[in-house]
Parts: sequence; C-alpha cells; structure tokens
Amino acid sequence: MRAVHNFNQGWLYAPRELSHHTPDSDFLPVTLPHSNAIVPHHNFDVSAYAFVSTYRKRFTLPEAANGRRVFLDFEGVMISSQVWINGHYLGEHDGGYTPFSYDITEHLQDGENVLQVRVDSTERPDIPPFGFIVDYLTFGGIYRDVALRYVEPIYIKDVFVRTIDVLGTAPSLEVDVWVANTTADTVKRTITLGIEITDSNRDLQSQVIELAAGQVTKLTLTAPVNGFALWSLTQPQMYTCVVGIDDARADELEVRFGFREAEFRSDGFYLNGEKIKLRGVNRHQNYPYIGAAAPVRLQRKDADIVKYELGCNIVRTSHYPQSPHFIERCDEIGLLVFEEIPGWQNIGDSDWKALSLRDVQAMIERDRNHPSIILWGVRINESWDDEGFYRLTNEIAHRYDPTRQTGGVRYFQESQFLEDVFTFNDFSNSVQEPKNTPHLVTEYMGHMFPTKTYDGEERQVEHALRHAKIQDKMMGMDNVTGAIAWCMFDYNTHVEFGSGDRICYHGIMDMWRLPKFAAALYESQIDPSEHIVLRPATFYAFGDKSNGGGDQDFDYIIFSNCDELEIYLGNDLLGRYQPDRAHFPHLLHPPFRIGDGQMWYTHRLRVADARIVGYRNGAAVAEEHLTTDKLPQQLILTADDATLHADGTDMTRLVFKLVDKYGHRLPHAHAVATFTLEGEADLIGVNPFPLVGGQAGMYLKARRTAGVVTVRATAAPFGLSAEVKVALE
Ligand code: GAL
Repeated sequence: MRAVHNFNQGWLYAPRELSHHTPDSDFLPVTLPHSNAIVPHHNFDVSAYAFVSTYRKRFTLPEAANGRRVFLDFEGVMISSQVWINGHYLGEHDGGYTPFSYDITEHLQDGENVLQVRVDSTERPDIPPFGFIVDYLTFGGIYRDVALRYVEPIYIKDVFVRTIDVLGTAPSLEVDVWVANTTADTVKRTITLGIEITDSNRDLQSQVIELAAGQVTKLTLTAPVNGFALWSLTQPQMYTCVVGIDDARADELEVRFGFREAEFRSDGFYLNGEKIKLRGVNRHQNYPYIGAAAPVRLQRKDADIVKYELGCNIVRTSHYPQSPHFIERCDEIGLLVFEEIPGWQNIGDSDWKALSLRDVQAMIERDRNHPSIILWGVRINESWDDEGFYRLTNEIAHRYDPTRQTGGVRYFQESQFLEDVFTFNDFSNSVQEPKNTPHLVTEYMGHMFPTKTYDGEERQVEHALRHAKIQDKMMGMDNVTGAIAWCMFDYNTHVEFGSGDRICYHGIMDMWRLPKFAAALYESQIDPSEHIVLRPATFYAFGDKSNGGGDQDFDYIIFSNCDELEIYLGNDLLGRYQPDRAHFPHLLHPPFRIGDGQMWYTHRLRVADARIVGYRNGAAVAEEHLTTDKLPQQLILTADDATLHADGTDMTRLVFKLVDKYGHRLPHAHAVATFTLEGEADLIGVNPFPLVGGQAGMYLKARRTAGVVTVRATAAPFGLSAEVKVALE
C-alpha cells in the first residue's frame, strides 16, 4: 500500500558548496524546515543568506519498497535546487514556492542511501520574482517539508474534486482522477469514489478503465450527493473524498474538500449565495530570525491570527503560493484565500515567463481542492500589461481549474482587464471609483503611512484611523467587493524599501505579530457573538500633545464592537458614548471618539485612573482600565503553546512584556532583559535582549528529547522576573 514518511529529520547542512566526497564532519546536523541562515532582526542585507549551500541526508529506507515506487517530495526549496541520490543526478528545480518530486526507485540501494542537495539561494534574475528590485526578502534553504512517498506501480497520481450545484436541487460531485500505470502492461482496473458523509456515501461510484502501459490516464467520476453541510465562514465543514483502485485493495488516496459556491459578481462577492464584504490582510511568509523556515505550528498560527485576532475573512498570499499548512488551516477555520503566483513588478524574458506559467499550473494543481481559496492571482504583482503573457496565465488557470475566477494584481485602473475580477492596489488613501467590476482592492496603506509598535500615540492613532477610513468607504460601495490591507505584519526587505533598516513597517502588527492600534480596528469588526472587543487606542499619558495631552484638540479613539461605552475617571462618570457613525457611517462597528480633550483636562487635575465599560443592548459586557502611574508592575512571559512536539522542528512564540498594573505594556520602555533556559530546547534570538516599546518576542525551538523546558527572564533595572514552562512530548 501507499505510505508517506516525513523526511524532515536527520539532515546535514553546510553553508557553502561541497562535493559528494566532502566528509560529513564538514556539515552540521539540522532538521527541516531549515533556514540557510539565522538572520538578525533587522539591519542586514541579502549577503546574510543569498549564497549556495549543501544539504546531505543519509538514510536507510524506513520500510522495504516491495515492488513499490519510491518518491522524494519537496514542498519548497529557495530558490533553486539540484538533487542527487547515491551520486545519481535527479534534476534541477527553479523556483522557491512550488513543490517538486523525484522518482528515486531505480537509484536506491540496499542499506544506506545518500541524498545530496545543492541549494542556490542567490537572487537569480532568471527565476521569478527576481530580475529587478523586489520589496521583500526570500531567504534561503530547504525551508519547507520533505517527504518520502511509496506508491504501488499502478497508483492514483492526483485527484481534483469539484462540487456542482451545491445550492440547487441536484447537487453532485465531479471528480477528476489521474491514474499512473508505471508497469509495462496495459491493464484494466476499477476506480472507486466515495466520500465520508454518511455510510451510504462511502461508495458513490465506480468505473472500470483501461490503463495503458507507462501512461497516466485521466477519468472523471460523477455522482449525486446529499446530506452534506456547506463550507462557510462560521461552519467550515470539511469532507474527505476517497478514491481507490480495485476497492482500495490496490491503492487509495484521500483528499480533503468542502461544499461551497464562491463567486465575484459586479455587485459583490457571494459565498453560498450570500453577499459578503471581504475584509482582509496581505500576508508575507517571513518570520523574525528564521526567515521563511517556519514549522507547521507557526504557519497555522498565522491563519488563526488573521481570523481570530484581526477578525478578517480573507487573506492574500502576497506574492506567492504559501505553506500548505497555512492554507489547510484556512480551510479548517473558514478563512478565504486569494493565492497568487510569485513575482513583483517585473516580467522577465521568455524563459522567465515559462517558469511563471509553470508556477500558475503548479500552484493550481497543488491547491485546487481547498475550499478556502476563492481566487487565483495570475499576474505578476503590479507589473505592466503584457497581453500575450496574461492571456496565457488566465487560460492555464481556467484549464486547470474551471471552477474558480482569476484576478491579477495591478496598480493602474487603465490596465487591460483580462481576468474575471479586477484586483487593484489602491494607494489613494481612499477607495477609488472602479472602472471595472467585479472590483477587489488588494492593497492600501503600506508605504503611505508606515508605523512602528513603538511609535507615539498620535501616529499610531492616525495609522489606525486611515485604515478605518478606507474600510469604511469600501463597506459603503456596492461596486467594490472588499479591501485587503497592506499588510498583516512588518517584514524584512531590501534597502530600496522601508525604513532603511531592512524592515517595511507596513504591518498592522509587527514582525512578531504583536498589534499596533490599527490591529484593533480590524479586530473590532468581529461579530460580538464571537468575542467582545474593547481596545482604547491610547497610551493614556498626558503631558505631550503627541500622546493625546498638551492641547484640547485631541480625540481619544476606542475600538470596540460594543454599542455604547461609559467612561469613568476615578469614580466619576465622564460620559456615555456611542460609535462615531458621523465619520464612519459604513463600518459594522465604528470606533468611539471621545472628543473635546475632556479626558485629558479632567484627568490632569485629578490624576485618576480610567475605567471604560462596554455595553451591548444595555448590558455591561466588557471593562477596561487605564492607569496614570506608568510604573512597571510585572514582567509577563507567555508561550503561545503549552506543549511542543519533541521533534527538533517544532516552535512556539514567547512574548515578553513589561506591563503596568492593568496589564498594558509600557510603550516607551526600552529595558534590557536576559533569559535563562533549562531543558531540551533552544531560544532563537539574542541574550540579553531589548524590550523595545516594553515588549519582545522570541521563538522556542524543541530539541528531540521529551521533558519540560523552563524559560526565565529578568528585566534588571526594575527587578522584575517571569517564568514560563513548556512541555516537550
Ligand atoms: C505595493 C506592493 C507591495 C508592497 C507595498 C508597500 O506596491 O505591491 O508588495 O511593496 O506596495 O506599500
């Protein structure tokens, strides 16, 4: 039978080009996903990782092949790789974002095998996205998973599940199946199709088919289905489609899918016939220090952050196909995805374009069963028009997936409209009137108003309000289907972009996914039935105008999905407030604006803490406190996860915060902290480390021994310390 083994363990690595004869002692042991370099947080350049490196893995087969074919599957290597098995050259793959496989059956030997991979992580102008400048860093290494896959000589190569008429009276499944016959004989086999909904759906359909020797044969099975639940944002029901050969005795492949209908129309985006305004963020795949080499847990966490911490319903995988683990999590939690091919502002020569066309196909073949994906991006982000090229990308997209619409992100409205959806980066600080529909705003803000988590209150509030203004405008336009912000979090970049320190501070969160005030605007659009949001966008300091004090013309902003707020200074009621519908008539939950400098004025005379009570339908549902004293009361140390896998790969984020008595970080504290670590794990970061704006992040990486890890941190000048324990299992 078929078997898949994770192949992430037991690799050797050297940050240079080495021959097959170089002894293992010249390499270091590593696990995948692996970044060819741990980079500084900022102030570094591409030379930190843009080099050629060598990976080697010695292995004996985890199980005997017994006549099966054995494949090596790479999910992603940045940016070009050449692979050898036992000295036999398997091939080269150019492009860091799409998977590739080699059939190694004929080259395996009894006992030990040696796999060697030469990885070129330089900015190769012949491979998208390179050839010109690019506003992000790609990093390097075998940064996604590798697997060893065994299949029978006659096996199911691929399955594409389409759900038909899911809202109608005769819903059905249409499933393309590709069967590979690697034998020298033409044979007849029975292909079966089932899904796990009810017992009666287990065997939906079967068909006898002739499989020519040495060929891949495609067939399409169709069957009516019933009794299923739709995949939606609130109930993202997933199902498993099971395709077998000869009643699964010969081979079986399971594919996850969902029943849903997604369509952009000129007056909006419809999911299962219901109009939904798309509210989203762009996501890059980078992380501090580790570049793009984030394990499963961190990939999944990002999807959770977009959905639950930012209250968004869509994410754009700017500007390339992202980790399968990320997309899978989007399926599971009901987060829509706009996925696009690699590229940025530049179109290369015909060979380059050929790689890009291959990327369109590879992206779609990899991901077309995911219900979360509702749109394929088939242009190089913000490139000029190229009719021949883009007619082809669209044609390939529709050929490999007739069920989804295409988009192609541009930044000029006059651009030729060859796609199904006009996807447009709108840097007007507003939302322009569309020239074409369906129209989706795929970027706004970003470089227009970069903001840091440790910037002053005035800038952070302005940043948040600009996001609010654009979201509000979009919500009020019937001919705009939604708006996707630039961007989810800050990212490392080249010197041509950003703040010069190789960071674009364009995020509504920082690189650690820690929020700026703007994050609260998005979070506050969450339906209150999911959770109540009450976030004052203030540091509650009173001397300087830029902190909200010093003058009478500063309005306090509070982001909340409550319908009324009460503010107390000390025990005195300052007032009762309603959302600012005058400035934000279309937002589901407009921010609250506390004007007239009253708070400052009253406060300064009385030096009182504030208490904010949130109401919904007349009932108090949330409470927030703000203090004036600004003295550090506690160092808080949290881990996102209480347990990690002891597999040498798994990671969780640690967050260190210096907070006041109500748990709010001290936004201007830049204290030096140190940590100690006990147990079988490593901290990826520097020690001592700075608490910048009162906070810091770090990744804890599990080694391969079970046990308990204890991290202790001390913020020396304040005599504060904290501890967290994480179990390794
Ligand atoms: C856009 C581009 C993004 C990012 C952004 C910064 O033009 O598509 O990748 O560079 O600007 O605001």
